[in-house]
Amino acid sequence: MARRLQLVVLPCLLLSAMAAAAAAMPAGDVQSSYIVHVAPAHAPRSKSRLRLVADAYPSFLRASLPTRMLRPEPRVLYSYAHAATGFAARLTRRQAERLASLPSVLAVVPDGARRLQTTRTPHFLGLMQASGLVSASRGAVSVVIGVIDSGVYPEGRASFAALPDTAPPPTFRGGCVSTPTFNGTELCNSKLVGAKFFHKGHEAAVGLALDEAEKSPLDTTGHGTHTASTAAGSAVEGASFSGYAEGKAACWPDTGCMESDVLAAFDEAVADGVRVISVSIAFGAGGWAPRLYEDAVAVASYNAVVRRGIVVSAAAGNEGPGDFTAQNVAPWLLTVGASTIDRQFVANVVLGSSGLTVAGASLYAGAPLGDGTLPLVDGGACEYGSFDAGKVAGKIVVCGPSDYASHTWKGEVVRRAGGAGAVLAGSARYRLHVLPQHHTLPATSVSMYAYRTILSYINSQQALAAATIQFLGTVSGQERTPPSPRVAAFSGRGPNIRAPGILKPDVVAPGESVLASWPNMRASTTTGLELHLDDDDENSLPHLATAWPQFNVMYGTSMACPHASGDAPGGSALMTTAYNLDSAGDVIRDATTGRASTPFARGAGHMDPNRALDPGLVYNALEADYVAFLTCELGYTAKQVALFTKDGGSAAADCSSSSTAATDANYPAFSVLLDGDKVTQRRRVTNVGRLSTTTYSVIVGSPPGVRVTVNPPSLHFMRGLTTKRYEVTFEPMQGAQVTDKYSFGSIVWTDGKHNVTSPIAIIWPPSSDADGEAAAAAI
Ligand SMILES: *[C@@H]1O[C@H](CO)[C@@H](O)[C@H](O)[C@H]1NC(C)=O
Ligand SMILES: *[C@@H]1O[C@H](CO)[C@@H](O)[C@H](O)[C@H]1NC(C)=O
Repeated sequence: MARRLQLVVLPCLLLSAMAAAAAAMPAGDVQSSYIVHVAPAHAPRSKSRLRLVADAYPSFLRASLPTRMLRPEPRVLYSYAHAATGFAARLTRRQAERLASLPSVLAVVPDGARRLQTTRTPHFLGLMQASGLVSASRGAVSVVIGVIDSGVYPEGRASFAALPDTAPPPTFRGGCVSTPTFNGTELCNSKLVGAKFFHKGHEAAVGLALDEAEKSPLDTTGHGTHTASTAAGSAVEGASFSGYAEGKAACWPDTGCMESDVLAAFDEAVADGVRVISVSIAFGAGGWAPRLYEDAVAVASYNAVVRRGIVVSAAAGNEGPGDFTAQNVAPWLLTVGASTIDRQFVANVVLGSSGLTVAGASLYAGAPLGDGTLPLVDGGACEYGSFDAGKVAGKIVVCGPSDYASHTWKGEVVRRAGGAGAVLAGSARYRLHVLPQHHTLPATSVSMYAYRTILSYINSQQALAAATIQFLGTVSGQERTPPSPRVAAFSGRGPNIRAPGILKPDVVAPGESVLASWPNMRASTTTGLELHLDDDDENSLPHLATAWPQFNVMYGTSMACPHASGDAPGGSALMTTAYNLDSAGDVIRDATTGRASTPFARGAGHMDPNRALDPGLVYNALEADYVAFLTCELGYTAKQVALFTKDGGSAAADCSSSSTAATDANYPAFSVLLDGDKVTQRRRVTNVGRLSTTTYSVIVGSPPGVRVTVNPPSLHFMRGLTTKRYEVTFEPMQGAQVTDKYSFGSIVWTDGKHNVTSPIAIIWPPSSDADGEAAAAAI
């Protein structure tokens, strides 16, 4: 029987202008938004209905604050009862401080903005063979996936067509709202089983009410439709759900989701009974992952994962390729990085009579350049207004390194100055990884290195320099593209800045050129072009102004995240069955360098949902593991731990006892800070291939400079769901000269039928290098 995937979309609305409310904070009576976590023992009681709790928090506030502090009156935005205990409210700073001092309140956190982890590049791709997670999912029961994103645009989208003869599972209690712009009766069906929106935190932060048309689950950005159809869209005949993308998180500096709205969406998703939650959001450019107790997604997902057994997959963020850039780093999250696939958008630069070809990539779909070459000139940074009249007219202009977010605009600058084509150098940060962009003239993006080659050609030829751009379109297949997958340059990387003992990301999945559903809308509201182009320019973008495609290419770890959401074997199975070799049989490469990636980039490897259905052994974590992790490994206070545990942390960990000394959350990977003698970690594995007795033996791939001992070296399982323990000791080898910051290895348990693989990452003590300082500064 085919597994049926159903979908409920819980959007948080995009923040288009971050309020400056907090900036001006003169008198003590300016209100801003806070999330107040209440000790469960003191929370207003409610047996079943949310509504009762919601009504109760204003009286909780009246009872908690002295009368003189009740002006201006606090305004409750949301109450939380499932993914967290407490409420979001408009409070003055004095009111917030007072609440924070009460024993009944665990924490008062200013409401913050998060970002969708993607940038987008609209382009009609054509339809491709169905493949990937959705078609691979088999099984019995329906799975409702909650996608917390920007909404959904289901109308006329085959990905959201009703499933014949099905109904949501009886445990699903959600539903669809109707608004003037979203007829829930019509748009929701047996596939899209719910749609809701959460806007109060957004409105409060912006200080403006949304108008009625905007108050809707309708997706007007494309992001949510894209992620939702990737996670759970029906396998459209002839359409592909596998794909990949690149993240330039810096290109959406002023949009985001308020954490109070995200928390409300989580709360309802849990109450509604979804089985999987996909969150493609993280802190934005330059942001380190927040401390877990200040991270609404970490807090909310803890309750979803630990109490309800919901699988939560989250984007690793688009801040790569530097160290410590992974986001959503809590051990209970499945953190998904982005990989590339064997599909490229090739647009090479051919230099003059030499015929030297320089690799480039572009999504340009307009009329190509002619067969002959055109004069090639160095346009410097291609700033607006920087070209002398006539200097670039009719020529191909080479623009210096810049963030990919600005490539479309720089091409447009060249077009306006009369240029015939443009070659845009990628950012130094992404090195070899070139990300194709949409263009308004024949243009292509090249790496920094290719840019240098082109510049030296121009210098040698001067006025004789000439070139053309060859648009080869979509090139796919292993023979014609470099080995795949690769880890995308933008994908967030370890070590884990908040918990060095937990390897993040967990896995990588397609994050580039992901093909999925896309709403109908004007291109200029979706592409980033609105940042730069005025309405007049629409006439110059004929291929953007035409009927909007139903499918689109997007880039970002957001696009990778929903790939990991369609089934629920849990993070352990996805990690231990992930593969680490590319199509050429080499270790998966890093697109940034072209060399082998490390587990800090690819996690346990590229996920393989089919193999994850039969993992052999799984690493399960209990709440006690997480409590020990939060208390002993992270050193959180009882109040901070209680934010997660909801029951007030009754199961407080004793960090001195040897049973909790291994504070590794029974993680299916090993990340070890080896700054002393030796480190011992303990793990439990449960046999889920339960048909027969079986014996697993261990194969250790020791990292350079480290002696790894596993004890016992073999595990015998009886029939049934049995659990065994083992212990791993990591010991630095005497006299070994390790010059790298990190070394890597693996532990594989095998019974001949299953390989249960865990990566090992060793973090050597930081010398006084910049990374160590950066990490120290962030912590
Ligand atoms: C919503 O759709 C249903 C079913 O097509 C229709 O009966 C109803 O009138 C619509 N409601 C509105 C407000 O348009
Ligand atoms: C397990 O790994 C070994 C060594 O890499 C390989 O030869 C073998 O085919 C793998 N077995 C399975 C079932 O994947």
